[in-house]
Amino acid sequence: MALFDFWHKKKETKEEELFPKIDLHAHILPDVDDGSRSEDMTLEMMEAALKAYVVHINATAHHRNSLSPGEETISEAFDKTKKLRNDNLLPLSLSCSMETEFYPEAEEFFKKCRVSLTGKAGKYALIEFTADVNRQSAIAAVFQLSLAGIRPVIVHPERFYFVQRHPEVAGEMQSRGALIMPNATSFMGHYGVDALETAEKIVQDGFADALSSDAHRPDYYEQYLLGCKQVAKKYGSHLLYELTWKTPCRILGYEPGSERDDFDPFEK
Ligand SMILES: [Fe+2]
Repeated sequence: MALFDFWHKKKETKEEELFPKIDLHAHILPDVDDGSRSEDMTLEMMEAALKAYVVHINATAHHRNSLSPGEETISEAFDKTKKLRNDNLLPLSLSCSMETEFYPEAEEFFKKCRVSLTGKAGKYALIEFTADVNRQSAIAAVFQLSLAGIRPVIVHPERFYFVQRHPEVAGEMQSRGALIMPNATSFMGHYGVDALETAEKIVQDGFADALSSDAHRPDYYEQYLLGCKQVAKKYGSHLLYELTWKTPCRILGYEPGSERDDFDPFEK
């Protein structure tokens, strides 16, 4: 065996090294946004997540403006999702939150709306940016949210043009209090070459805090698992552990282990 082949084989990630994972960003709630279209699809997505070694899903719903589904609609969809999980005895715990597109009133919105927050820690919010946001306004948004006591978790930064042009902006947002969460699917080229290269740059430069699926359909989880394997192979399984378990536990405020570890933001 040639020396290169030997090292290459040694570096391959084995299935058993892919420990259970937390997916903080997945559109599994039935019929609330462009994610799951039905309860059947929600069940398929949860089953696909389990095959990808996921043990906890934070079910997210897009919040883009005042016309987006509100707390009541999301609460009903979350109840249906938990019932599906229970009826089918899936070993999965669940939480629920919004993925909010940042707009000037968003800061005020977060103060009012419980489901924009991710977990028991209660101070994190998943944030995405519109296509017209530039580097300065993104950093200003992170600053504004931090002042309001909210720690933004920036979802799929590798997909934003301003980050693709200036990947170091991920570090600038991080140094102002944001957490950076690329999609694992980006490492498989799911969003094209620019997003792939930007995701790799973000991880190489040490700016990634977590990885998630951003699943909208069941088959996303195949790409998610391959993307996680790719990260473990290139950067080490210890980093994958940090990105898919350790930091997500910190964001959730607990270590999920069973369905009893659900976090329901609607519970009184
Ligand atoms: Fe999303």
